Amino acid sequence: MIIVLRTISELRAWRNALPPGSRLGLVPTMGALHAGHISLVDLARTHCDTVITSIFVNPLQFGPKEDLARYPRPIENDIAMLEAAGVDALFLPEYGEVYLPDNSTYVVEEAVSLPLCGALRPGHFRGVATVVLKLFNLTQPHFAFFGQKDAQQCAVIERMVRDLNVPVEIVRGAIVREEDGLAMSSRNVYLEPSQRALAPLLYQSLLAASQAYAAGERDAQKLEAIGRALLGDQPGIEVQYWEIRDRQSLAPIHTIGPDGCLIALAAYLGNTRLIDNLILGA
Ligand code: PAF
Repeated sequence: MIIVLRTISELRAWRNALPPGSRLGLVPTMGALHAGHISLVDLARTHCDTVITSIFVNPLQFGPKEDLARYPRPIENDIAMLEAAGVDALFLPEYGEVYLPDNSTYVVEEAVSLPLCGALRPGHFRGVATVVLKLFNLTQPHFAFFGQKDAQQCAVIERMVRDLNVPVEIVRGAIVREEDGLAMSSRNVYLEPSQRALAPLLYQSLLAASQAYAAGERDAQKLEAIGRALLGDQPGIEVQYWEIRDRQSLAPIHTIGPDGCLIALAAYLGNTRLIDNLILGA
């Protein structure tokens, strides 16, 4: 039976009562759970003795014009999914439990968080890094699990953990896709049927570049042109970025070397912003 912990003192009491030496895994989420989240829980269960999930829609990582108010919050369904997946505890705090009214301390990563989504969503990764460090301090997990779909988020958190010597091991879980290739996301529910029909093109653009890479192309500009060509003429898809970057530092790459690369994209379908990515090589 899953234990729902709503306050920091409940969480701390639960954490302190865990048997010494038992490995704790944290799967932080904003709820509206799907198979991608459950795959992280499954991964956590293979690494850890005890698994805790958090659900907190973190206002600090939403811009003023973003979808905080309409972000889906199907909490009963989420709890049932976590229970069925064998999660031991759920941390489900209210806003005021996480942020005091005069909260004035934030975590800012100043390199990996700057390009791509960081350039387009000012303050987003500051919000993510701040809440994730708070969740690490509160739950003190041995491992924490994040989805590769948010590749830049993973890179920012890994950098924060490295730079601030946070005693947690970050594990990335593979992207989980719908049958037609669309990466699972809590935001997919916003898509109207015509937009949903177009959405798999995002992944197809990544695959087109991947096929050219497999055929020997290593020039990032050429691969980018191949990928973008699939999306460029599509009314209904507005590409924000489609870029080839170093997997860890997210620095731009011109010629793909032995370490491979990350292709990352963001696009609007109507008002819905979707991201996806693919690793080439290595
Ligand atoms: O990926 C998410 O759902 C969120 O960014 C996270 C890591 C739970 C922080 O709010």
